[in-house]
Amino acid sequence: MTAKVTKLFDNIWQQYIAITPSADKIHQLLGNGGDVINDHVAYRTFNIEKVNLEKLASHLLAIGYTECGQYDFAAKKLTAKHFEHSNKTMPKVFISELRVEEFSTEIQTIIHSLVNQLPENIGFQDDFLYSGRCWKLSSTDYNTLLAESEYAAWLAAWGYRANHFTVSINHLDNYDCIVAVNNSLKNAGHVLNNSGGEIKGDKRVKLEQSSTLADTALVEFNDKQVEIPSCFYEFAKRYPLADGELYTGFVASSADKIFESTNAAA
Ligand code: NI
Repeated sequence: MTAKVTKLFDNIWQQYIAITPSADKIHQLLGNGGDVINDHVAYRTFNIEKVNLEKLASHLLAIGYTECGQYDFAAKKLTAKHFEHSNKTMPKVFISELRVEEFSTEIQTIIHSLVNQLPENIGFQDDFLYSGRCWKLSSTDYNTLLAESEYAAWLAAWGYRANHFTVSINHLDNYDCIVAVNNSLKNAGHVLNNSGGEIKGDKRVKLEQSSTLADTALVEFNDKQVEIPSCFYEFAKRYPLADGELYTGFVASSADKIFESTNAAA
């Protein structure tokens, strides 16, 4: 089972670094050339049955993951769940889905026109979690989505791929605090997401997180190519609960700000 999980995340990582070269560099930097344990990998989708959270999750449940937490992001109109594997060195997976029906008719029409282009069985295909964008999109529709939901625009442009990977600071050999990690990154020239402060959360909520601002990459729209935010890299330090085990959940107020790592730089 673990070999299947490792293979899946290898494929997802390769697709991710192809448009997030900074993550590959940071992986080398923090891991000192060696391996890095991932705290979690995050996904975005629409709550339309063909591609919803449950479709993404089915690929994880099939390889030993279980559902462990639910979250609501009212302002961003998102519902999320997180999944954990019995092997604690395998990444947790955080999947959110956009509540499409809460948007304007114009936005709903665009989103449905994208999902309608996909084959009916796409959610069941083995490579769904790294299938990328399998719909055509115009730059006009991208900009219409962007005006109402950065999340929707990102998903429309990039499709099914990891939105971010997250380094587990607890498992790094050369670092034990998030401040030191952030300083190393900034010294190497990387830009961090400052929305809600550089470090989201604290020891009290058992989870500290920071992230880079997304790289940018060229996207092919129907009418032209445009350079837009791609993916980012996150860093997480977890603290133990009263029973001595590390907290494994997520903190909604922190995640809410992490989502903004794909906002276009001001
Ligand atoms: Ni995350």
